[in-house]
Amino acid sequence: MRVIIRKTYEEMSKEATALVKKRLTVKRDLVLGLATGSTPLGLYRELVRMHKEEGFSFKLVRSFNLDEYYGLPPTHEQSYRYFMDTNLFDHLDIDKRNTRVPDGLAPDVEAFCREYEEAIKRVGGIDLQVLGIGGDGHIGFNEPGSSLASRTRLVALDEQTINDNSRFFARREDVPKFAITMGVGTVLEAKEIILLVNGEKKAEVLAKAIEGPVTSLISASALQFHPKVSVFLDEPAASALTRTAYYRFSEEAEKKLGREIF
Ligand code: PGA
Repeated sequence: MRVIIRKTYEEMSKEATALVKKRLTVKRDLVLGLATGSTPLGLYRELVRMHKEEGFSFKLVRSFNLDEYYGLPPTHEQSYRYFMDTNLFDHLDIDKRNTRVPDGLAPDVEAFCREYEEAIKRVGGIDLQVLGIGGDGHIGFNEPGSSLASRTRLVALDEQTINDNSRFFARREDVPKFAITMGVGTVLEAKEIILLVNGEKKAEVLAKAIEGPVTSLISASALQFHPKVSVFLDEPAASALTRTAYYRFSEEAEKKLGREIF
């Protein structure tokens, strides 16, 4: 696990964008796993800028989103399909037919979840998965207690997630109580993962996730089992880590050796 700390959210987002750009340059039809939430917005803004200012093409890119609220139509302003369209896809030349977000209205949820997993396999798996972390340590909507081997499925949202996400809805009662999410096991099969975390509010849970014991109570801690994870942090998010000096030292040491940090 590589931990890359930058002073501000903007710098952290730019650094993460550099990694994504590098992978896209090598493989134009990269399969991206994508996340919603406020954290990846800086990365998405940079990708849009790359397209608009540098003419970088996303035509061949395929994507699978981590999760979607159950019961929300794609036209709902708080649906994750709407979020992805308005914050990213509408501003790129990506073929929307190649962008998948779980169907919050799937009539047969189990069949849908099986098909979603199969669709990921059909394209050869996710090359690069983008993740944020929830206040309760979740990745996707894998709430505390989710099996670390879990697959795409319907889950009930945790109270903390409902509280955290109520800021986007007119009333707390309007927050959906269920979601479809890729499982922790699904996420761990991605060939490479980037975890983005900013802000002091996430510092404690992030420290538990990457420096604490692996536990299903913090589903992000399962990333410790993955061989290729880069964690991008701003300084406030890194403030509860105990090994910061080492992370900085190892980044510098690798640069001195002339090795690329990612
Ligand atoms: P946030 O959400 O980026 O809006 O903090 C992260 C998450 O819940 O995974």
